[in-house]
Amino acid sequence: MGSSPNGRPARSTSTSSTSSSSFTGIARIARRPCRELGPNSTRLIGHGLVAWTRHLKQDVRIRSARQEDREKVVPFCTGTFDWGDYIDEVFDLWVKDQEGSLLVADVDGQPAGILHVRLMKHGWAWLEGLRVDPRHRRAGLATALNLAALSFLKERGYRNVRLFIEANNLPSMQLAYKLGFTEAFRWKFYHGRRPVLAESRYSSVVGREKASETWDRLDGSDLFSRLGRCYEMSWAMHPLEREDFIELVDDGRVFRSGSGEDMALVISGPEEGHPRALRACFLMGSPKMVKDLASFVLRKALRQGFREVRAASPDQPEVVAGLRSARFRPGFSTTLVYTMDLRGLRP
Ligand SMILES: CC(C)(COP(=O)(O)OP(=O)(O)OC[C@H]1O[C@@H](n2cnc3c(N)ncnc32)[C@H](O)[C@@H]1OP(=O)(O)O)[C@@H](O)C(=O)NCCC(=O)NCCS
Repeated sequence: MGSSPNGRPARSTSTSSTSSSSFTGIARIARRPCRELGPNSTRLIGHGLVAWTRHLKQDVRIRSARQEDREKVVPFCTGTFDWGDYIDEVFDLWVKDQEGSLLVADVDGQPAGILHVRLMKHGWAWLEGLRVDPRHRRAGLATALNLAALSFLKERGYRNVRLFIEANNLPSMQLAYKLGFTEAFRWKFYHGRRPVLAESRYSSVVGREKASETWDRLDGSDLFSRLGRCYEMSWAMHPLEREDFIELVDDGRVFRSGSGEDMALVISGPEEGHPRALRACFLMGSPKMVKDLASFVLRKALRQGFREVRAASPDQPEVVAGLRSARFRPGFSTTLVYTMDLRGLRP
């Protein structure tokens, strides 16, 4: 769900056209009774796909998007954030998604909300781009879109789903809580433009010969496990297992500093939509090693013609301290990853 005026929005690498019949589950869900978890809070989905109590006052239908929806959807998204929105940049790509789906909520036959479901590896999925026309908010459309997305994923055997919410987006946090998502981890974003070290002493590109040893160190790290075994790239969290890591190494996208217990690690990649910026996701390291590595990645990026490195960091004091001492400046606001295990949900 995250997006940035300075960064690029999440984009799908793949694409679907799903018939609206895929979303018949929504009606069934919507009529189930509500589960109260406390005097002031209601979770719609708790231990199973439970309830959606609100009786929609309007005629709402969830379906997959069509190209011609663009002219209705983009205008109601334009003023979403104080800096605007990115939906106009990604709509054409998302509507062609052959694996996931761009869902549309129609009210009285007119598009009034969207949500993109992106399929990932290892049974994971990613939700992004949730938008409801301001004229139709608080009428249950976002709930309907999310429930349809969860049905879509459940029907296809997906096991887990994640999404981003900015830490200051209280309506979305409330919605996520209500749907049964739980907060998994906080991420911070920085950008670096001037390296502080003339030469990094401990950093290098990870090649095949060091791939296994480096993976084992990451795999055994407590932080990586708490992150949910994933990395951030261009506003989406990607699951990361050994085979993915080896592919990234083979693509020359993994760098590290130090070794053994004192190792910092970063995965880099193109910042979609911003060809002059390199994305770099720091996954672990002491302040000293992160500083060395951040300078290394930045110098390398500048040599390759990039103007800046946009760094994502888990909100973990050591990694953050390393980036700050490498004079990386805060970019986008803190963003929360929410997650849901779909296995216990009834379709
Ligand atoms: C967040 C957003 C998608 C919610 O859409 P919506 O259709 O109004 O949401 P729903 O009617 O389904 O609301 C479901 C629940 O979400 C929470 N919620 C929604 N809007 C809220 C608000 N303004 N304040 C507090 N809670 C809110 C409530 O718990 C609500 O249940 P309730 O109405 O019974 O109290 C919509 O406000 C929006 O498009 N915002 C701008 C874009 C955005 O922030 N997208 C998400 C990016 S992560």
